[in-house]
Amino acid sequence: MKKLYFGTNLKMYKDIKETTSYLRELQNLTKDISRDEIELFVIPSYTSLNSADSCVDRSLIKLGAQNMCWEEEGQYTGEISPKMLKELNLDLVMLGHSERRHIFGETDEMLNKKVKCALDHDFIALLCIGETIENKNYGISDEILRIQLKIGLFGIPQDKLTKIWIAYEPVWAIGVNGIPATAEYAEEKHKVIKECLTELFGEAGKNIPVLYGGSVNPFNAGELIIQPSIDGLFIGRSAWNASAFNELIRNTKKIYLDHH
Ligand code: 13P
Repeated sequence: MKKLYFGTNLKMYKDIKETTSYLRELQNLTKDISRDEIELFVIPSYTSLNSADSCVDRSLIKLGAQNMCWEEEGQYTGEISPKMLKELNLDLVMLGHSERRHIFGETDEMLNKKVKCALDHDFIALLCIGETIENKNYGISDEILRIQLKIGLFGIPQDKLTKIWIAYEPVWAIGVNGIPATAEYAEEKHKVIKECLTELFGEAGKNIPVLYGGSVNPFNAGELIIQPSIDGLFIGRSAWNASAFNELIRNTKKIYLDHH
């Protein structure tokens, strides 16, 4: 079977104690699932990362940061540098989450610098892209996705491709007010993304995993994962309880296997 990706972004939830107990429980519940079949990752808050690092077996759960500056050091008050994240031995860095783009004004050009910097420091760069409801209503979703990919991944050398993951998260589908994309819609957009990645990087672009995120829940996870262009699920609220996340992973994997 192809490897299925399951990850969660803890956003600005869970303090140190909550994060470590969540991670211990999730690791314990999921440790029997073959990591050749699934890739599991958790992205806690900055302040929890150090403690998270000491309580997780990285061969079972990858750990990532929610953002990163594109410079190693300097006059960037409030930012976190790749060298600081490197000290924590992290596996990945999430870049361009919808909340970073839309609340904090991150642009595709800034994200391109961040992606390059993350790859230079040997992190997996998880680049998040997605159209707003206005983009969708104007019928320009595909163009927006292509722009976000073409600028965000501009100038990335071929030998770094294995370190790139993409999360497609339509802005209108994320969070408490989000409406989940239908599996058909998500598949259509994942196809656009995969085509664009192939255009940018040739055949090797086809191996970049593309995850869907935005109101994934136990009821829609199965139909999303069976779509041919969806390689995994990037989940917020439905993954923040370890036992619910464990069940979602197992049930979804079973649906995938039954379908193949
Ligand atoms: P929800 O699953 O809560 O909609 O959040 C998705 C998300 O933003 C993951 O990064």
